[in-house]
Amino acid sequence: MPVQNRFAEFADELTEWRRDIHRHPEIRFEENRTAAFVAERLQAFGCDEVVTGFAKTGVVAVIKGRETGSGRTLGFRADMDALPITEATGLDYASENAGKMHACGHDGHTTMLLGAAKYLAETRNFDGTIVLIFQPAEEGGGGARLMLEEGLVDTFGIDEFYGMHNWPGIEAGQFAVLEGPLMSAAGGFSITVKGKGGHGAMPHMSVDTSLAASNIVLALQSIVARNVNPLRSAVISICGMRSDTDTYNVIPDTVELKGTLRFFDKDVGKLMLERMEAVVSNTAAAYGAVATIDHLDGGVGPTVNDVQAAGHAAVAARAVTGQEPVVIDPVMPAEDFSEMLEAKPGCYVFIGNGPSADLHNPHYNFNDEILPVGASWFATMAETRMSLK
Ligand code: NI
Repeated sequence: MPVQNRFAEFADELTEWRRDIHRHPEIRFEENRTAAFVAERLQAFGCDEVVTGFAKTGVVAVIKGRETGSGRTLGFRADMDALPITEATGLDYASENAGKMHACGHDGHTTMLLGAAKYLAETRNFDGTIVLIFQPAEEGGGGARLMLEEGLVDTFGIDEFYGMHNWPGIEAGQFAVLEGPLMSAAGGFSITVKGKGGHGAMPHMSVDTSLAASNIVLALQSIVARNVNPLRSAVISICGMRSDTDTYNVIPDTVELKGTLRFFDKDVGKLMLERMEAVVSNTAAAYGAVATIDHLDGGVGPTVNDVQAAGHAAVAARAVTGQEPVVIDPVMPAEDFSEMLEAKPGCYVFIGNGPSADLHNPHYNFNDEILPVGASWFATMAETRMSLK
């Protein structure tokens, strides 16, 4: 894996940082130790400015280039939060925080951006300003939105945003750079089905919410199959089903369903929401029940890469690996970096994690071999997008 020589020199240090962060995972808006770890190093590197407590537990740092005449400011973002998952890797640096785990590789993302910060603060071979954004609460906590609400763009004058996620299944250290949609929009919902509970042996005396809810689950699948244009992508999944009884002979009064919607195109999302209302209420009514839908806060839009920014990202990827970025299809997981890309143009890229367990799996682990590669990409982005004359 070719990387800038300087990064190869401190690969061991990067691995040490990553494993330290991995050992101490913190979930949404609790990233106090992680933020302190990050801020301490950013200060030691000699960044021009280090702001802590931005969007609660976020950290933002500024590094000015040798020249700043271009007037351009790039925002590089890494996410810092872990997940409420019990780690099952058995690693000697596995999570010490029960029920919490870096199962999405944000420990690696944070480390790669820290590595780039160390190099950029030392070399400053670019014409412009780099803003390093260490974001809290990516996993459903609205961290990106809060950073934007607290004035991330205006406070630091950011013109373009760039970020990176590791991706299992792509060869380790290879980049995937897509123009346009990369990751889908996501919205969580719950459906409450109310009927009339009763004796399991006398269903005619009840309004059976289990039957109504089961038919709602089936009918919801008709939306993607029959309403969404087959050339567009969409998903509706029911992931949770719970009734107010937990026994074998009582028909429940209430059943709750939980699920998620995924789509790339906002018009498709609007159509899905409209059809959900009709399918859910009418299916419930057909069985004599009543159903209501609640949409959870914290949904995010699709992650859409700007065509020109994707071009700049690909230039940096080629410079680091000496190879063309790999070609992949867009994916259905969502990412709140989408909110930053709605505020300003930019690009989110994937870096291959090799044949690891999947993201959000208790056996997943970030591949330390790619740390210098990812750090090189951020550094090269600065040096190629804002090259010195
Ligand atoms: Ni993630």
